[in-house]
Amino acid sequence: MSRLTVVGAGYVGLVTAACMAELGHDLVAMDLDEAKIRTLNQGGIPIYEPGLAELIAANRQRIEFTSDPSHAYSSSEFLFICVDTPPTPSGDADLSRIWQAIDNLPPDEGNHVLITKSTVPVGTGGHVQAELAQRGYSHIAYVSNPEFLREGSAIADFMHADRVVVGADKPEVARRVAELYAGIDCPVLTTDVASAEMIKYASNAFLATKISFINEIANVCEATGADVKVVAEGMGLDHRIGPHFLQAGIGYGGSCFPKDVSALKQIAGNSGYHFQLLNAVIEVNELQKRRVIGKLKRHLGDELRGKQIALLGLAFKPNTDDIRQASSVVLAGRLLAEGAHVVGYDPVAIDNMRETVPGVEYAASSMDALQGSDACVLVTEWEEFLDLDWAQAKEIMAQHIVVDGRNVLDAAALTALGFTCEGVGTRPRRRHHA
Ligand SMILES: NC(=O)c1ccc[n+]([C@@H]2O[C@H](COP(=O)([O-])OP(=O)(O)OC[C@H]3O[C@@H](n4cnc5c(N)ncnc54)[C@H](O)[C@@H]3O)[C@@H](O)[C@H]2O)c1
Repeated sequence: MSRLTVVGAGYVGLVTAACMAELGHDLVAMDLDEAKIRTLNQGGIPIYEPGLAELIAANRQRIEFTSDPSHAYSSSEFLFICVDTPPTPSGDADLSRIWQAIDNLPPDEGNHVLITKSTVPVGTGGHVQAELAQRGYSHIAYVSNPEFLREGSAIADFMHADRVVVGADKPEVARRVAELYAGIDCPVLTTDVASAEMIKYASNAFLATKISFINEIANVCEATGADVKVVAEGMGLDHRIGPHFLQAGIGYGGSCFPKDVSALKQIAGNSGYHFQLLNAVIEVNELQKRRVIGKLKRHLGDELRGKQIALLGLAFKPNTDDIRQASSVVLAGRLLAEGAHVVGYDPVAIDNMRETVPGVEYAASSMDALQGSDACVLVTEWEEFLDLDWAQAKEIMAQHIVVDGRNVLDAAALTALGFTCEGVGTRPRRRHHA
């Protein structure tokens, strides 16, 4: 087994560290955020990801946590770069942390392989390799190894990956990196660096396109009386389309889709190509988040000032505390701008949200959020919201409006209790069987 270094102990870095340790490798996980490393060394986990704490605890003797780059870099042959690449105001990817990680490389003769797991624009690997050559770091080989895990199911996604992509100029280096994944039963696609980088962007952009497509179908369903849930089911039965990523809702969010779609649009634009389709995907997603306001006004009247709106779920999806680019952030901001009193509840994401959106009142439970509310918007489909006691909710809400932003509630049951329930692209109706 090899000794690895993971640079950046965030969602991807910690999951990579835990899973690589589980595969039998010894490793050191390094982060410049000393508070994060302190938490990890004290046995805590700085993020919420199901199963991560247990997997790190089970492999603790194989994982070392440090904030010292020189120690971390010099102790391993394989260096996984897992730092964040957030969007700049122009929509490009901010690569400053990637370059910072490279600046920390030790100028020794160690036989390192630098493996980029972070999502970086096509061509970045080429720039890094040119920079390494210019600095005289010919002892460092370069590999693009994009990560496809999803927050909320990251451990399973890593250990049961659909594929591992290894982009390298030297087949021998690609083989050594592919071997690190021995024990994971999936296809390994080896290719050149630029194609590996593009596979990541193209995959996320395609999935985002599917979501915006079904959301537009949902909007047309609302205008024509069709039910998008049945429409999606019927579409998904076609094996050329498939059932995944066809759930209409109030838009995608998270740390990946929005920034990666925007970065791919910029990559294309910077190369002289106008990627028209992605412009529409982005615009549809932004409008989709805002359509909730129109639905609330339809039931509560045009004036939302003084109305109390409960947001159930703040994380960008269930089973994570990540609120980056979450629909809740836009929704809360728009509602506050309308003068509404916004009460938010989420099982794990409140602390993150509090920092990002001041002005929202945060509740300790769903029922606390619903108490006295004029309407409720289900923003994130956490399991605990699926079997809420709506009879009790009926007693404590001021008005009985529910906007089901993820089409997961039983609209017929809610209607029977006396709620007005509106989903996305749906209406309470019976499906006709042939
Ligand atoms: N989060 C996901 O679901 C996911 C999935 C696939 C790919 N990715 C990509 O992986 C990358 C990391 O994403 P994330 O969500 O794990 O980010 P994150 O923000 O959770 O973690 C990044 C970590 O890197 C640390 N860091 C920054 N610069 C550093 C440096 N020079 N040296 C050491 N540590 C440094 C930060 O302190 C932070 O802890 C991004 O490019 C992202 O697009 C993310």
